[in-house]
Amino acid sequence: MQITYYGHSCFMVAINGIKVLFDPFISPNPLAKDIDIKNILPNYILISHGHEDHIADVVEIANNSGAKVVCAWEIHNWLNKQGVNSTHPMNVGGKWMFEFGKVKCVSAEHSSSLQDGTYGGNAMGFIIESNQGCFYYSGDTALTYDMKLIGEFRKLDFALLPIGDNFTMGVENAIIASDFIKCNTIIGLHYDTFGYIVIDKKEAIDKFHNSGKKLILMNIGEEIILKN
Ligand code: NI
Ligand code: MN
Repeated sequence: MQITYYGHSCFMVAINGIKVLFDPFISPNPLAKDIDIKNILPNYILISHGHEDHIADVVEIANNSGAKVVCAWEIHNWLNKQGVNSTHPMNVGGKWMFEFGKVKCVSAEHSSSLQDGTYGGNAMGFIIESNQGCFYYSGDTALTYDMKLIGEFRKLDFALLPIGDNFTMGVENAIIASDFIKCNTIIGLHYDTFGYIVIDKKEAIDKFHNSGKKLILMNIGEEIILKN
């Protein structure tokens, strides 16, 4: 699978040539100033929750690309009111077979509201299973014991976890999370974008390394191919 990083928690993963974008927050992110969202044309957009740092560009990218937006029921209703009608509502515990693979919504321990105060439903993470591999995008979340369920029932090739602390789990808890999900290849997200979540990247990589795990911190705009 080809993975492109657009900063903060925003990644695009190409699965069998189908492009799936996660949590677009690009144009307000000064660290991603070299990325032009007009060039981002996904087939699907998956939204973990309604906070601005996860959905800032969703309306524009959905309109430019015609992508189908997969999100909580409450965010689907909100998007429909913004004129984005190509949506697929889901909720925690549910799964659906899309053309790129199976999406399972899992719980994230976080909050979810839209910028205008609209309730955003439950925050979610996603497990994506396809014939190219299986990965977990946790969204914003604390460490939870429920993550053990993922490790028991899935064989993950890699996982995308927040490591910035303050609003989500930090490095130490992300290492425990990767134990729980039985996955040793982690792409870090939700760090460095604003003052509260600036981290020492070398220290984070070393801590994962000392636990026998690999932490990948991508440069914004960088592409990598991942599959065990
Ligand atoms: Ni959030
Ligand atoms: Mn966030």
